Amino acid sequence: MYPCIDKGFSDRLSSDAVKRGLNTEWLGQQPIFCFGVVETTNIEANRLAREGTPEGTLVVADGQTKGRGRLKRSWASPPGTGLYLSIVLRPTCAPNCFPALTLTAGVATASAIQQMGLVPQLKWPNDILISGKKVGGILTEAVFHKKDIDFAILGIGINVNTSKEAFPDSFRNQATSLRLGLGEPVSRVELLQNLLIKFEHYYGLFSEGNFSSIIHSWSELDSTLGSGVEVALPESRLLGVAEAVEPDGTLLVRDRSGHLHRIVAGDVVHCRIDPFTVHHEKK
Ligand code: BTN
Repeated sequence: MYPCIDKGFSDRLSSDAVKRGLNTEWLGQQPIFCFGVVETTNIEANRLAREGTPEGTLVVADGQTKGRGRLKRSWASPPGTGLYLSIVLRPTCAPNCFPALTLTAGVATASAIQQMGLVPQLKWPNDILISGKKVGGILTEAVFHKKDIDFAILGIGINVNTSKEAFPDSFRNQATSLRLGLGEPVSRVELLQNLLIKFEHYYGLFSEGNFSSIIHSWSELDSTLGSGVEVALPESRLLGVAEAVEPDGTLLVRDRSGHLHRIVAGDVVHCRIDPFTVHHEKK
C-alpha cells in the first residue's frame, strides 16, 4: 500500500481524513484502504472481499493505471484529480436485483455531486452527466456462489479536478469534471464523505427492497426518459423512446411500431434525430 499523495487544501485522501467528522452509521466506519496508484480499485476490493473483509470496506486510490468501465471500456484515472473508489458489498437479495444496485449508486453519486453545488443528471444505466457531458460512472461487478451473490464490488469514478487536457483525445469532448462545471476546485475528501452518507441512505432502501423509492429518486435526476434513444444491443440496435425505468432497473423503450422492449443491459445514446424514422434494425 502506498501513502496517498497530499495535494494540498483538504484533498489528501487518507483513511483519517475521510473518517474525520464522517456522520455515517456504518459506511466508512469499517476499514478504508487508501492507495496511491493501483491498476484498479475494483481488483483490490475483490481481493479483500475474497479474504473476508466486511461489507462496507472501502478502497480508494489516488490514481489508476488500468481503470475500467462498463462494456470493457477503460476509465481514465489520472492521479491526484479524480475520485476512484470501490465498496465491498454483501447484498442478500436475489441476483436479479443487481441492475438496481447500479441505479442506487447512481442516485447516491448524483446526490453527493448536487451537494457540491452542481446540477448532475443520470443517463441509464450508469452515467452521471453535467451539462450533457460525462462526469462520473458506476461499474458494479458481482461474484456468485452457486446462484446467489457472494459479494459485489461497487466501483465509482468521478472526474473531480480533472482538466480538459487530462482526458484522452477520443473522449475529451464528451467528458467534464466537477471543477470544470463549478469553476473552482472541489475537495475529494468532502465529496467522498457526502457520497458515503448518501450511499448509506440509498443502500438502506435497496436492502429493504424499497426499489420504487430508489427509482423515484433516479427518475427525478434522469436525462433519458421521454427522449429518443438508440440502444446498442448485442445483435441489433433499437431506436425508440425511453419510457420508464422499472423497479428492477430495466429500461423500457417503445419502438415505432408500439412494442415495448425491456432493456436489461445495453449502451444508450440520446438521439438528436426523430427516433421513429428508423426502428429495430439488424446490424
Ligand atoms: C463507466 O462509466 O463505464 C464506469 C466507470 C467506473 C470507474 C470506476 S473508478 C473506480 C473503479 N475502479 C475501476 O477500475 N473502475 C471503477
